[in-house]
Amino acid sequence: RLLIVDFGSQVTQLIARRLRELNVYCEIHPYQNVTDAFLKDFAPRAVIFSGGPDSVMREGSPRPPAGVYEMGVPILGICYGQQVMMQDLGGRVEAGEHATAEFGRAYVTPGDDRLPLLDGWFEQGREQVWMSHGDHVSEIAPGFEVYGTSPGAPFAITADPSRHFYAVQFHPEVHHTPNGKRLYENFVKLAGFKGDWTMGAYREEAIAKIREQVGDAKVICGLSGGVDSSVAAVLIHKAIGDQLTCVFVDHGLLRKGEAEEVVSMFRDNYNIPLIAADDSERFLSALDGVSDPEVKRKTIGRLFIDVFQEHANEVGGAAFLAQGTLYPDVIESVSFSGGPSVTIKSHHNVGGLPEKMGLKLVEPLRELFKDEVRALGRELGLPESFIGRHPFPGPGLAIRCPGEITRAKLKILREADAVYIDQIRKHGLYDEIWQAFVAILPVRTVGVMGDGRTYDHACALRAVTSVDGMTADYYPFSHEFLGETATRIINEVPGINRVTYDITSKPPGTIEWE
Ligand code: XMP
Repeated sequence: RLLIVDFGSQVTQLIARRLRELNVYCEIHPYQNVTDAFLKDFAPRAVIFSGGPDSVMREGSPRPPAGVYEMGVPILGICYGQQVMMQDLGGRVEAGEHATAEFGRAYVTPGDDRLPLLDGWFEQGREQVWMSHGDHVSEIAPGFEVYGTSPGAPFAITADPSRHFYAVQFHPEVHHTPNGKRLYENFVKLAGFKGDWTMGAYREEAIAKIREQVGDAKVICGLSGGVDSSVAAVLIHKAIGDQLTCVFVDHGLLRKGEAEEVVSMFRDNYNIPLIAADDSERFLSALDGVSDPEVKRKTIGRLFIDVFQEHANEVGGAAFLAQGTLYPDVIESVSFSGGPSVTIKSHHNVGGLPEKMGLKLVEPLRELFKDEVRALGRELGLPESFIGRHPFPGPGLAIRCPGEITRAKLKILREADAVYIDQIRKHGLYDEIWQAFVAILPVRTVGVMGDGRTYDHACALRAVTSVDGMTADYYPFSHEFLGETATRIINEVPGINRVTYDITSKPPGTIEWE
């Protein structure tokens, strides 16, 4: 396996992504955790130093342990990683000036000699790369040669092929280095990787790791019905069987048929011990009269912790809490001031539960991206209909019901949402859309149906495309689709007499209405 030492670059996760695309298994570890003992234990076949925001010129800036250069394995340093490597091995780095700082697209031209790392490069005489550096290497370390230069980085590509040490100033992992993947491909080939890592292999490794971590202790897992927690639960169940109990709390804010769907998916397919609790009365009474979005969220969050804790106590003696934390969640919460990411993460996912309950975390998806979790889900045999589900927020329909939440409104909302999603599926659009839902609006409008007057709710349809939920575009449905859907909703859902389509992107809007 390959080790990526993370010095804090915004794009470290893309390195992992490129490597997985090459079927090479890698793990990212923050530099603080990478000690000589860690290296010995991890026994990487190759190491990559990521970029990072710091300056190697600063006293106390992040470093790898000295032993990394003695392991006899190939090392690739990127940007800050290049500078660290040069300085550690006897070269020099200079602070950036205007003339040498480079941000954005640049072109690298080849040096005199050829390097296997660069097979397939420089066929056009130069390569486009993405630079983002203030400092630059001003003197290469003994044993190194220059294999490529750019206007701001005379040592854009340097290497000591005899030791298999490679160092580049640019970022080969980003999209704007169009031929960057080739460089990773060459690097892993040089390191002896066969490119035979698969999701099936990952599954087996993950199962072994869970067994080792958990031993014969009990584990509880909060199921939301989303892909991440479901995949985590099924994987853990494969590893430790009935030592795992899942807890699924119905807070009364789920979509039509959702609670039954989740529970039967688990009961029918997996036979996983499952506490399925209907706590909707508690949640809905607590939300009675609440219309402020933040108060809604906080009320639901607080109650969820209480309720989950009560059910978890029914399991008795659980030592671990399982979560479907993904890699992007981890990256968002690794704090460079040294804060342990686990604590931040558990706040993020379940509001401080582990600290309160003294539970340790099991997070088998920590290294994966969303699409990889979906691939793992397929490997574990989860039904396709489940794997491809749109994300659904923890506070559920509460934040799709602006203003006061009433049972009557929730009923209307559920029906309208079901018709809308049915339409999307019928038109084969479900998988093209990141997320789609109906929001019921706190206004009533006048209509005419048959020969009578109606005075009912208006609703808004929402559908967006997105890569990660951070930014989003509204989905450009055809007018025919919108017209047909509006007609169906008004005809089939008593209580709605007007349908609008929300064409706000994010930003400036958010995906949810609250
Ligand atoms: P917004 O509305 O912030 O949503 O653009 C971005 C994505 O996050 C989901 N979302 C949540 N998910 N708990 C969750 O688990 C929440 O409180 C929450 N709020 C928003 C939202 O559905 C969208 O996919």
